[in-house]
Amino acid sequence: MTVKSICCIGAGYVGGPTMAVIAKNNPHLKITIVDINQARIDAWNDTDVSKLPIYEPGLADIVKETRGKNLFFSTDIDQAIDEAEMIFISVNTPTKTYGKGKGMAADLKYIELCARNIADVAKTDKIVVEKSTLPVRTAEAIKSILHNTGNAINFHILSNPEFLAEGTAVEDLLNPDRVLIGGESEEAIEALAHIYSSWVADDKILRTNLWSSELSKLTANAFLAQRISSINSISELCELTGANVNEVAKAIGMDSRIGSKFLKASVGFGGSCFQKDILNLVYIARSYGLTEVADYWEQVIIMNDHQKRRFSDRLIKTLYNTVSGKKIALLGWAFKKDTNDTRESAAIYVADHLLNEQANITVFDPKVPHTKVQTDLNYLNTRSEAENESGAISVDSAYEATNDAHAIAIMTEWDEFKTYDWKTIYSNMKKPAFIFDGRNILDKAEMEHIGFEYYSIGQ
Ligand code: UDX
Ligand code: UDX
Repeated sequence: MTVKSICCIGAGYVGGPTMAVIAKNNPHLKITIVDINQARIDAWNDTDVSKLPIYEPGLADIVKETRGKNLFFSTDIDQAIDEAEMIFISVNTPTKTYGKGKGMAADLKYIELCARNIADVAKTDKIVVEKSTLPVRTAEAIKSILHNTGNAINFHILSNPEFLAEGTAVEDLLNPDRVLIGGESEEAIEALAHIYSSWVADDKILRTNLWSSELSKLTANAFLAQRISSINSISELCELTGANVNEVAKAIGMDSRIGSKFLKASVGFGGSCFQKDILNLVYIARSYGLTEVADYWEQVIIMNDHQKRRFSDRLIKTLYNTVSGKKIALLGWAFKKDTNDTRESAAIYVADHLLNEQANITVFDPKVPHTKVQTDLNYLNTRSEAENESGAISVDSAYEATNDAHAIAIMTEWDEFKTYDWKTIYSNMKKPAFIFDGRNILDKAEMEHIGFEYYSIGQ
């Protein structure tokens, strides 16, 4: 089967950058990204590429180069499905907020809607590629929906999970550690492998069965998150024993069997994937009766929640056990640097906790729009929207955020935070001036020399 035309359903953080990089490397392929969200598609089509809905270093240039040539953004989902030989499903799979598996299982309603839409529209054979992270054996459901159309069309299902991390999406896509393709039809697997082979060496393209591919994605995220919870658990011990978590991480990371990556202690991991995927893994294990397996992985989430709570508790305790009426500056709202994504960001939970204690919060993030801070807090449903609005405001500069503040909490590791004029910030704050560095990005000795009371993670 030769593929000349691709459709991708879901113009999000995964679908957008992935298709842009495929388009760049395959000029002969026509790629149409569709989405039900008209505003998002309009933003992808904006002539000013600085207004794309997703900020990723290097992405705007690739979109500029390919858009209108072989990369298109549209809301006409049916037409794009009809034209394509290969359809990627890249819609979101949030944690269920209702019914069985509430708070744990992945909500697959959008995946099912996509499968039904494809079944309704398709008039020719299609390869359907799961790009979204899905519970193991989801392909079974997609297959069942597609094969029961009764119109004698052949559908091949592939699992091709995406391992890109936000903030480095383009770099990760251009130089992947591996590309994973799971499937049953060799012809379909090779059709997709051929597309990747235009820029990825063949020995990095792994072919597996469907179920291994689906489970590998959940497992990769669970292992990565587990490393962070592991080092964060040690950070608490460091604070009580005089050990320094950065030194411990370096010492263990130099063991080639352990490796040095993903050992940065922090205020807690965020992002759209880690928590959701682990909860999903836990749910799947429970549903097979594997209690010990489920409990084991659940502990990664428990540790992460503990780390976020511990951070705000320490701040409150240090500020003489009360933050009521005190101005606290949160530097950073995104779940990590170089992205405008705030999903599950630790900042949201720390802010929520401080608001419960009646703190006045002022947020500065270089990439996150002001309205997002309110939307994120309102989503938690802890208090009224009016209360969130009066308790937490968002400003355009770190200097404004920290002016007259009792304490600064660094929530995201933005590089620019390191280059600030910390002497000026210190002189404009209330004294004693506290910094709680949730990312260990500032130099303790230097901050103390300026006069700050400086607290970091695991030191
Ligand atoms: C994320 C994760 O990164 C991915 O691994 C996970 O499996 C799903 O959630 P992401 O691209 O970040 O994927 O999601 P998001 O930015 O929310 O994009 C999904 C897009 O799909 C949205 O723009 C949404 O409007 C669109 N969508 C959703 C449809 O077009 N049709 C639907 O039926 C549902
Ligand atoms: C993750 C996976 O890395 C990626 O492979 C998968 O496709 C999607 O989920 P992402 O969520 O974009 O990517 O970001 P990642 O860089 O993994 O960071 C996740 C969270 O962990 C962030 O909040 C980050 O700040 C935190 N983190 C990461 C740490 O606290 N310490 C570390 O050492 C590394």
